[in-house]
Amino acid sequence: MQTLSIASGPENVSRIILGCMRMPALSTEDAAKMISTAYELGINYIDHATCYGAGEAETRFAEALALTDVKREDLIIQSKCGIRTDVKTFDWSKSNIIESVDGILKRLKTDYLDVLLLHRPDLLFDPEQVAEAFDELEASGKVRNFGVSNTMPMQIELLKKFVKQPLKINQLQLSLEQSQLIDQDLYMNNKTTEMSVMRDGGALDYCRLNDITIQAWSPLQVGMFKGNFVDNPEFPELNAVLGKLAEKYGVTKTAIAIAWILRHPAKMQVIAGTMNPVHLKEMVEACKVELTHEEWYELYLSSGKFLP
Ligand SMILES: NC(=O)c1ccc[n+]([C@@H]2O[C@H](COP(=O)([O-])OP(=O)(O)OC[C@H]3O[C@@H](n4cnc5c(N)ncnc54)[C@H](OP(=O)(O)O)[C@@H]3O)[C@@H](O)[C@H]2O)c1
Repeated sequence: MQTLSIASGPENVSRIILGCMRMPALSTEDAAKMISTAYELGINYIDHATCYGAGEAETRFAEALALTDVKREDLIIQSKCGIRTDVKTFDWSKSNIIESVDGILKRLKTDYLDVLLLHRPDLLFDPEQVAEAFDELEASGKVRNFGVSNTMPMQIELLKKFVKQPLKINQLQLSLEQSQLIDQDLYMNNKTTEMSVMRDGGALDYCRLNDITIQAWSPLQVGMFKGNFVDNPEFPELNAVLGKLAEKYGVTKTAIAIAWILRHPAKMQVIAGTMNPVHLKEMVEACKVELTHEEWYELYLSSGKFLP
């Protein structure tokens, strides 16, 4: 397993994260198998959110962890708050952040979170309330590290004006099929393609400049949760290149798709969403692959892009 150290901690975290969004579909026994397999493969980083199964993912995880030999303190457990499931709103108010963390800790049966991320920007967010919430959570020892998800650079700047804890992580969507995080840098100032549109305020370069670790979510999905692009007949050219490189490196096409993200010099983590231990093993094989410069571009171009 490749590891990295997030600026000002946590250190030695696995570059592949076990994402638990789909864990509510598993029995407690199968969830325990997933956790054990992940840990044996070197995965020590777990991603949750209050909205995954409206809390069910965290509950199932805690019940399952108790059935394994994995100790809570050997894991970096991250959860996210700010998307409410009881009412249709995003909510970064102080009260919601504090109450959410209390709920997370109760469901996860732990007294601290290694990392808390704000999940999706609340249009009405007040950075002073976020700062007060983070101060309380840090002082009580309930949260050790903080970050954001799907958050624009200027929103992070606004938070930084009041929040004193470093914002260490930004969780963003990235895959060969959903590569808008990268595309805008290639097509800048180009009126002939909408891939030149900057949709995120330059999040990739901002995070690199500010030592914020990017965690790539849905690394295999078409669009938002429309299924996997690997072995999908709608992507023949991409699958041909994935297949050729899979053969060269002796891994699966899935591993090559993950290696494409790991190869980016921003040194991202990748969040695996599979709930199948065999698929997880295949994905982790990506850590053994170092794609060449040319191969990285060949994959990118085969996913429907062109050099301007
Ligand atoms: N911050 C955010 O806004 C945000 C949004 C979405 C997700 N996330 C995080 O990112 C994680 C990953 O998201 P995701 O589940 O959409 O990602 P993903 O890893 O791209 O997709 C996983 C899905 O692909 C399927 N799949 C089919 N064949 C596979 C194969 N050979 N190998 C691996 N998977 C295969 C999996 O099914 P099987 O289980 O059958 O393998 C599963 O349904 C989530 O768990 C969550 O932690 C964050």
